[in-house]
Amino acid sequence: MHPIIAEDYDTLSRIAADIVSDLVRTHPRASLIAPTGETPLGLYRALAARRRRGEFDASYLRVVQLDDYLGLDDDDPRSLYRWMKTAFLDPLSVPDAHVIRLRGNTPDPDAACRAYEATVRAAGGIDLAVLGLGPNGHLGFNEPPIGPDAPTRRVALTPASVESNARYWGGRDRVPTAALTAGMDVLLAARQTLLVVSGAHKRAILHRTVEGPIGPDVPASYLQQANNVTILADKAAWGE
Ligand code: PGA
Repeated sequence: MHPIIAEDYDTLSRIAADIVSDLVRTHPRASLIAPTGETPLGLYRALAARRRRGEFDASYLRVVQLDDYLGLDDDDPRSLYRWMKTAFLDPLSVPDAHVIRLRGNTPDPDAACRAYEATVRAAGGIDLAVLGLGPNGHLGFNEPPIGPDAPTRRVALTPASVESNARYWGGRDRVPTAALTAGMDVLLAARQTLLVVSGAHKRAILHRTVEGPIGPDVPASYLQQANNVTILADKAAWGE
């Protein structure tokens, strides 16, 4: 694991944009996990600004969805696909055909998960997984306790995740309680991982992730054993 400590959130976002830009410059057809959540929004804004200046071209990028709530249509305001489209795909003009979906609006969640794993495998896996860190140590919706081999699957959200997601949708009652998530197997096999972490409220879980025992109670702790992992945190999250 390679930690980079940024002075503040804007610096974190710029460094993250440098890392994504470098990959896309050298591998225009790279496959990238682009998560939802608040932490990567500064990164996405920075990439969109670079695109407007002609410095970033996502035309050939393959974008892989990380997770979604179960049972929401794409036009539901809470759909994480819709969030990804608004925050990332549209500002960067990524064609729909270049997106590997994990469809939460499906009558057969198990088949959707199998199709996702097969499509990701056929695409050659993940070149760069950008990930946020859940307050309970989750990656995607790999809720604790979970092991490193867990496949892409349907999950029940823990109370900690419902609580954390409530701020997105204006209350706990509005948060769906089931989701589909890319498996730990998919995420830990990425050739490169960028974990973005901002804010003092993430400090304790960040240090358990980086320094704590590796185990199912903190799913992100398995990143200690993965290849080419950068932990990009601002000072508020890292501490002194
Ligand atoms: P956040 O979400 O970026 O909004 O803090 C991270 C997560 O829960 O995975």
